[in-house]
Amino acid sequence: MTKSASIGSANRYNEPVEKSFPQDGGGEVRVAKANLDWANLAFGYSKTDYNIRYFWKNGAWDQGRLTQDETLDLHIAATCLHYGQECFEGLKAFETRSGETVVFRLDENARRLARSCEKIHMPPVPEELFCEAVYRVINANRRFVPPYGTGASLYIRPIVIGTGPQIGVRPATEYIFMVLVMPVGPYFKTGFKPVSLLIEENVDRAAPLGVGDVKVGGNYAAGLRASLDAKSKGYADALFLDTREKKYIDECAPANFFAITKDDQYVTPHSESILPSITNKSLITLAEDMGLRPQRRPIPVEEIFEFKEAGCCGTAAVITPVGSITYRDRKAVYSKDGQPGKICTALYNELTAIQLGDAPDRYRWLFPVPQTK
Ligand code: PLP
Ligand code: COI
Repeated sequence: MTKSASIGSANRYNEPVEKSFPQDGGGEVRVAKANLDWANLAFGYSKTDYNIRYFWKNGAWDQGRLTQDETLDLHIAATCLHYGQECFEGLKAFETRSGETVVFRLDENARRLARSCEKIHMPPVPEELFCEAVYRVINANRRFVPPYGTGASLYIRPIVIGTGPQIGVRPATEYIFMVLVMPVGPYFKTGFKPVSLLIEENVDRAAPLGVGDVKVGGNYAAGLRASLDAKSKGYADALFLDTREKKYIDECAPANFFAITKDDQYVTPHSESILPSITNKSLITLAEDMGLRPQRRPIPVEEIFEFKEAGCCGTAAVITPVGSITYRDRKAVYSKDGQPGKICTALYNELTAIQLGDAPDRYRWLFPVPQTK
């Protein structure tokens, strides 16, 4: 039987709700999905129905509101434009096998955003407000949550910017926290297929005592020329070395790096200038369960020639197996047949099975989105 909610009804925030809720007999409220080619989505921006915005003024965040506006009205002296007062997050929602919408490790992203805000002197978004914003914006865009089994997910991009005007270098007195969402496919267009990376020694992504360990836009601007150079030479992306000595692996432009040693150990760089990846943290837990004795330690660049497998990991990249790494005039090859290694595959399967509700959520990483009707 199919039921429809009345058009124009509102939830407790007086927000518009979905126009129809076909109910499929299982009691689960489902929305009519957007008509998209879900299995072939790229990783990129697309317009959805709503984004949500909260304003910070006089020391407090407001109630937030959903809007269909894709643009911002911004003061020309806003600190985000002049002095880089900007940070963001990236997380994903999935439709599980049972039809529920869940957000992966929402609490971790909330805490990381707060750390980023604090590091560049912006008011931290409280964890509760962060979760509320994510739930509200997902509920307002339910038809864009990719159906289970399509390989796509709903990418969630929270962002905080300094909007108050300053010309002297000091923090703004006003801020916006907003969250946009969009359905996406794989970050690297090959999906779960090995990619080639280029070690870029001539570009520093982040300074040792700088802001490389938080998710601020400036880090990406700093790394852009390395990424573009690597791409122009036919590589999927750049791999950065530590800035101080250029001796150790740091991370890939949009993701952390990990490798599997010849004796089946999961290793990943310990560095103060890389982003503490939530995906990597999750893989470390799964690797432990799989007996891979995970270890975070400095990884000398020469060790790339010893590894059995390598990978990039992140929300957007998920696990992207690395087929080869080029360092100066040498190449470390991990995949000769274009196929991912066994351990990368096992980790990928386990992580994605948990995200999709195909494997038990034994660490309580999934946050079901409370439905508003
Ligand atoms: N490193 C960088 C520079 C990133 O942009 C990302 C993506 O967020 C990651 C690592 C992976 O972090 P996470 O797994 O939390 O998405
Ligand atoms: C993410 O994985 O969420 C990121 O923010 C990486 C970004 C470069 C797409």
